[in-house]
Amino acid sequence: MTNAIYILNGPNLNLLGTREPEIYGSHTLDNVKSMCADFCKEHNYALSFHQTNIEGELVDLVQEAGKNGVGLIINPAAYTHTSIALYDALKSLTIPIIEVHISQPAARESFRQISYTAQAATGTISGFGGNSYILALTAIKLKLKNQ
Ligand code: DQA
Repeated sequence: MTNAIYILNGPNLNLLGTREPEIYGSHTLDNVKSMCADFCKEHNYALSFHQTNIEGELVDLVQEAGKNGVGLIINPAAYTHTSIALYDALKSLTIPIIEVHISQPAARESFRQISYTAQAATGTISGFGGNSYILALTAIKLKLKNQ
């Protein structure tokens, strides 16, 4: 796939819309995907959008994004705070990487204060609900234009 932006979503994000709506809002992951698809269509990017609850599958998808994508947006969900395997996979990429969170982990529990994955990212966008993804797509677009 040429000109593809990968958007990867980690564990429990398939439950968006019903999972702790007071924190994560009422958008479903399908809503998020369709907002991202509209953005990509308008700006002439192909979209490769995935969700998995399995850490190794996320690692495989990060590697695939490195081979086939021009940019990567990742919401690693709970693996943000635990996964050195994902950190290592992200470190191997040369394309821009934006870490995304729906909530603002910095304002939440202490175990969410560490992000391993952000340490391998170009930048992080968090706290804007489903719109965090659109802001991340905008960031990738600017990064690709300006580099
Ligand atoms: C999250 C924040 C993480 O701390 C949490 O484990 C998630 C979702 C977010 O998008 O706000 O599952 O990544």
